[in-house]
Amino acid sequence: MLYTFMDFCAGIGCWRLWLEQAWFQCIAYSEIDPKAEYTYKTFFGNKEQNFWNLMKINPDNLPDFDLLIAWFPCQTFSVMGQRKGMEDPRGQVILWIKRILQQKKTKYFILENVKGLVNHNWWKTLKDILEMLDETGYYVKRQVLNTKDYGLPQSRERIYFLWVRKDLWPFNEKLKFPMSVNQEPLENYLIENSSKHNFSKTRSETMIRYLNNKYNKWELSIDDVIKKEWCIIDTRQSDIRFYQWFSPTLRNGRHWLIYSKNGKLREISGLEWLLLQWIPYELASKIIWKLPDTDLLSQAWNAMSVNVIKAIWEIFFDFISSINPHGSYTTWLSNRKTLISEWVWSYREIEQLETR
Ligand SMILES: C[S@@+](CC[C@H](N)C(=O)[O-])C[C@H]1O[C@@H](n2cnc3c(N)ncnc32)[C@H](O)[C@@H]1O
Repeated sequence: MLYTFMDFCAGIGCWRLWLEQAWFQCIAYSEIDPKAEYTYKTFFGNKEQNFWNLMKINPDNLPDFDLLIAWFPCQTFSVMGQRKGMEDPRGQVILWIKRILQQKKTKYFILENVKGLVNHNWWKTLKDILEMLDETGYYVKRQVLNTKDYGLPQSRERIYFLWVRKDLWPFNEKLKFPMSVNQEPLENYLIENSSKHNFSKTRSETMIRYLNNKYNKWELSIDDVIKKEWCIIDTRQSDIRFYQWFSPTLRNGRHWLIYSKNGKLREISGLEWLLLQWIPYELASKIIWKLPDTDLLSQAWNAMSVNVIKAIWEIFFDFISSINPHGSYTTWLSNRKTLISEWVWSYREIEQLETR
């Protein structure tokens, strides 16, 4: 039997990428941004209905489903934003999600948000959300996880909530968040060779001026920067930061994330942004010719890190199976190798296939 889920605030569908590998089938989604919808459809096709604005959905019009995946606007909670939280109308998405849960009595519910939600408004926002969903009838496990602890070389801290309807919550519940794993080398993800992303003359000149501004005062020359191979360089107004083993959090407005390869400075490309969220190479390469890098950057910034979804899913799927016996995730995985291997997940895998 397949379980079903609805993908709310679907973005480019990172949850779906992994869940559909593991006994769950997406039956519909809701995404308000036409460009994100375009990428979603490029990845998954046109079959499922997009319900667009979540806050205009009448739950009576929704099909039944077992799992609800959602997010709610992080601009209202992010430490970068103005921290208006629940007072901002965009913060109210969570109230609509509650309405849907109440009406549909969905069994499981997964939510992700920025780490800033934890202490927003002196911890009151989080407390309100937890109380509201407790009253709606759900128990929860939550934890802040960092993408770079699960194999991918990007630092990205997000809070993850796993909610289960109270009547399904087992007495001896043993749901624990996943253990960390070793990180892969950054160079596995910085694989673009196109000259389009070489640092232009104008960019180099701006960089030289930057290194000589009143904050940096030539502490580093451009040659020093170029010598730092496979290191991501983030320039801010007052300083320059080097990330040797991992990328800083992808986000809009980081126009200056660069790195040095073979003696040249390069900008991180749209493809590399997507790979740094563990979007399979095969899928990423379907969209990079269709949208400009600026759009790919915002989509990658918004996206969930698929490696973290995989890690969470391994434990959550085992938990669900312990309630509804379907066998463990590992058993399931070994029986379904063909489906998993249909996707080539990294550029290195493609290289290996080609040299075989
Ligand atoms: C952080 S992203 C979610 C990322 C997604 N889980 C993924 O992995 O790609 C949030 C998405 O919610 C969408 N969104 C925001 N408000 C919405 C609403 N009221 N209804 C539907 N989608 C909405 C945004 O356009 C954005 O693409």
